[in-house]
Amino acid sequence: MKRLLSLLLLGVITPAGAGGPGPEAPPDGAATLRPFKRELLAALTAGLADGAANAIDVCRLQAPALAAAAGGAGITVGRTSHKLRNPANAPRAWLEPLLAARLADPGDREPRTVSLPGGGSGYVEPIYVQPLCLACHGESLVPEVQAKLGKLYPQDQATGFREGDFRGLFWVEFAPPDPR
Ligand code: HEC
Repeated sequence: MKRLLSLLLLGVITPAGAGGPGPEAPPDGAATLRPFKRELLAALTAGLADGAANAIDVCRLQAPALAAAAGGAGITVGRTSHKLRNPANAPRAWLEPLLAARLADPGDREPRTVSLPGGGSGYVEPIYVQPLCLACHGESLVPEVQAKLGKLYPQDQATGFREGDFRGLFWVEFAPPDPR
């Protein structure tokens, strides 16, 4: 736990710290995403034990909170998709070509790091549909889930997925290092 904490702190402090790694050592997007991915899956799995309709609230409230916790000074974390449930997860401009590239080549499962205008950088990892996702993103939803999603997300496009489908991207945006 202590080790995890120091890793997290390092992740937050290093990119902006004076004398930190130069441009040849980009910030570690994979490490930034790891706790977010793990805790989101844990929250979802725990929520599903009380039924999918209940777990909708877990996902709705926990996902943004966990994303905020995984970020920090100069680091923003999120999820996006070509088929959005929550319009608040719409892709930032730099994510649009990365989403399009995945859709054109769904076999590409590699993470990507890109340079952003202004000196920052971005990191993405693809998200694929697993069996447990289908209760809320699959082709047939139980009426209770359907009704609740319809009420909370009237513009929901994030259904009709099958196991293994590309679902979207986890992303991290690193602000430019301090010019010093
Ligand atoms: C219990 C229902 C439920 C399950 C199960 C579920 N999700 Fe979701 N998912 C949601 C809800 C609700 C949102 C909207 C969250 C928000 O408001 O930010 C969402 C949003 C997302 C988003 C963000 C983009 C968007 O469409 O807004 C991604 C990506 C995503 N889910 C992927 C998955 C994956 C992958 C799984 C399986 C590991 C999964 N979900 C399982 C309910 C669920």
